[in-house]
Amino acid sequence: MQRPFKPSAVLAEEGEDEATNLTANPTIGDIISERLSRRILLSGALATAAMAVTASPRELIAAESSNPATPNFNFPELAAGADERHHVAEGYDADILIRWGDKVLKDAPDFTPGVPDPEAQQRQFGYNNDFLGYLPLDGSSEHGLLVANHEYTDPELMFTGVEVGAGKQANWDQISRQQVDAEMMAHGGSVIEVKREGGKWTVLPDSKYARRITAETDMRISGPAAGRPKLKTSADPSGTRVKGMLNNCAGAMTPWGTWLTCEENFNNYFWGKGEINKATDAAALKRYGIPSENYFWAKFHERFDIIKEPNEANRFGWVVEIDPMDPESTPVKRTALGRFKHEGAGNIVNRDGRFVVYQGDDQRFDYVYRFVTKNTVDLANPKANKDILDEGTLYVARFDADGSGAWLPLEHGTAPLDAANGFNDQGDVVVHARMAADLLGATKMDRPEDIEANPKTGKVYVMLTNNTKRTVAETDAANPRAKNAFGHILEITPDSGDHAAPTFRWEILVRCGDPAKGDVGATFNPRTTKDGWFGTPDNCVVDSLGRLWIATDGNSLDKTGRTDGIWAMETSGETRATSKLFFRVPVGAEMCGPMFTPDAETLFVAVQHPGEGDSDSPSTFENPTTRWPDFKPDMPPRPSIVAITRRGGGKIGV
Ligand code: FEO
Ligand code: CA
Ligand code: CA
Ligand code: CA
Repeated sequence: MQRPFKPSAVLAEEGEDEATNLTANPTIGDIISERLSRRILLSGALATAAMAVTASPRELIAAESSNPATPNFNFPELAAGADERHHVAEGYDADILIRWGDKVLKDAPDFTPGVPDPEAQQRQFGYNNDFLGYLPLDGSSEHGLLVANHEYTDPELMFTGVEVGAGKQANWDQISRQQVDAEMMAHGGSVIEVKREGGKWTVLPDSKYARRITAETDMRISGPAAGRPKLKTSADPSGTRVKGMLNNCAGAMTPWGTWLTCEENFNNYFWGKGEINKATDAAALKRYGIPSENYFWAKFHERFDIIKEPNEANRFGWVVEIDPMDPESTPVKRTALGRFKHEGAGNIVNRDGRFVVYQGDDQRFDYVYRFVTKNTVDLANPKANKDILDEGTLYVARFDADGSGAWLPLEHGTAPLDAANGFNDQGDVVVHARMAADLLGATKMDRPEDIEANPKTGKVYVMLTNNTKRTVAETDAANPRAKNAFGHILEITPDSGDHAAPTFRWEILVRCGDPAKGDVGATFNPRTTKDGWFGTPDNCVVDSLGRLWIATDGNSLDKTGRTDGIWAMETSGETRATSKLFFRVPVGAEMCGPMFTPDAETLFVAVQHPGEGDSDSPSTFENPTTRWPDFKPDMPPRPSIVAITRRGGGKIGV
């Protein structure tokens, strides 16, 4: 049987982007003039910006004063562009820390390019590093554990002889078990111990913390869905144990030292499209885009076949909590936080001590969520928080046209989340969180990616990466552009500074894209240079000085004349919405994982899928568009972590 081969960039487009939300939830559908006139009343500045795309709104919105404790960014801006290498601002070093295939466990063999080797791969650094978390050892910013997600695999770049290209087909019959199993071992995550000596970071080779987590690692399921009928499979009649985590995209660390790693496009791994209508819960499968048949694992692993194992897909799409300090610990899927295509888990300890997790569901027209724990965090005793994520309330966001918003609780028992709508208990609500959110009237967003709360200001930043499928009739105040190719960033201000409050205010920090093109409608501060604007915000991080840094996914020579990278973004005062380019990736790569050490002297970044092509311009193991970072003729491009430090020492960007 022939299977269509889809390069990963196409997978991302189809997997991450394809809309499955067919509800009539309020995208409001106001005509632009009505929408803007309402905004003008509240925020003349933003509305003016929206109407006159080349005008500067900043003088008007800069009502709030600069926080003197938060310095403006200070570094020589990098020139935007696109080539085979990575680049960092002058005065900084950007050194390769670890690459796909490098040793993680001390008994790992050396990397051999081109040949799938699951035994080796489960000991080596996985593919497509995404989220990075830094956990200081003894409070140090120069010695700690670094955790990395391995989101997905690009077999055409990893192995020899994988066909790719427009109109071409990969030969399904020839896909080997070795290849599938090596890809499964290249997924998941890594824990490495890192140290800075003489100014340079290295990976400690014999660390007792070193760990690989893969698509086969034994995990526990906890929270309201654990043990419920929808979670039971023939391999796990208890509904409480699952093998592996899939498509772990962004994530976050918790204040008690654990790693929250988020399963995103888990639908890609399941197949059975031709028989979906025979499946139980076919409507739910469709709402989650399952099966999308973008990987071939079901050929050798029946659990990925929705007809043979209909509940297996319900065991993915969760936030997984891992204790990096204990390599023997069992990762736990925390179902109370809901099941969807989780991007990240940006979090903050609320002023009342409860823990709040902000979450994006990365698909066109899907939602922004918030989880608030029932109990308060015990910062003095990290172990006391071990199951704090199992109890609490999951909410979904409604963004109203007047600049206010509401968090709608996904709580079983009150209409419409009751048995009449197929929700028999809270387990059903979290397993089908998207459908529960549909019924509550959540706002359909332009692909919510990472969300971060700034502890210095209390503001929350939502990256909305793009949505080219939104029509003019579907625009709304929070998603104001039809055919939104370049995305935008929302700023949420919780009412009374309370991250558990039922309501909030919001506004658009910036609409992204080239400000020189009037039809794009970008709203960067005019101080932003020709290098400083960007499209398609994806991950973000707030440094210990309270400043926002943004990583992008989707810039390229043909779309924006630049590769993806890290942009520093001012958020207050007269410079608000000015951004500045700090680092950029080689061609074909996406920028992931920005994470600072607590002293703000090191920025770790993850260069994901360097050299990835698409069906119009394929890039393969034999003929890649870059051989970053090794640049050796027999070596393919390798996703890698880069450690960025200031030459001569000091905080970054100060
Ligand atoms: Fe895996 Fe939404 O980026
Ligand atoms: Ca991404
Ligand atoms: Ca983040
Ligand atoms: Ca993305």
